[in-house]
Amino acid sequence: MAEIQNMIVAITGASGAIYGIKLLQVLRKCGVQTHLVISKAGRLTIEHETEHSFDEVVQMADHYYHNNDISVCLASGSCKMSGMIIAPCTVKSLAEIACGISSSLISRSADVMLKERRKLVLLVRETPLHLGHIQNMERVTQMGAIVMPTVVTLYIKPASIEEMLEHQVGRVLDLFGIESGLVRHWKGLGDSSKS
Ligand SMILES: Cc1cc2nc3c(=O)[nH]c(=O)nc-3n(C[C@H](O)[C@H](O)[C@H](O)COP(=O)(O)O)c2cc1C
Repeated sequence: MAEIQNMIVAITGASGAIYGIKLLQVLRKCGVQTHLVISKAGRLTIEHETEHSFDEVVQMADHYYHNNDISVCLASGSCKMSGMIIAPCTVKSLAEIACGISSSLISRSADVMLKERRKLVLLVRETPLHLGHIQNMERVTQMGAIVMPTVVTLYIKPASIEEMLEHQVGRVLDLFGIESGLVRHWKGLGDSSKS
């Protein structure tokens, strides 16, 4: 796999803005240039759920773009972005992507990723789900995206929310071949030949 040099990170208005924030921090440590877009509702959840201000989050990225600004490079397939992660991803943004509606920079950039056959990972967060949500997940998967819902990994026995976050962010970056050092890879329960 070609080395990942840059990444679009989008934060939409689902619960879990901290996933997008953690991604920005880890990608910076990994030397990956980040291009950040935040939806209007994403800004609300950042301010409601986290200790970070909107301006602080913007500073965590190398480049920031307004979600209404459809004129920027991310809106074009000629802009060589290695991939895109929407973390967290609302079912509204999921639905737009599933239907090819490019009404914002986030949905247009995701559409570009799909048409250019580049990697798009959606950390969808909603619960419970109706059939339309599930069908939209099926649609984007058929189009080439990876749906990776925000879920707690209990088998690592996380001691803190930070550990839970780091594990999921590490697993997202695994999909791009980025070694974050955050994933405690499962090594099995022991030597089953003895039982
Ligand atoms: C505090 C808060 C939490 C929300 N949590 C979710 C959620 O977990 N999943 C979801 O799909 N929408 C959630 N929403 C609703 C979305 O923010 C809303 O549908 C919005 O229009 C999505 O727009 P966006 O996809 O452009 O960010 C939440 C809204 C607020 C204010």
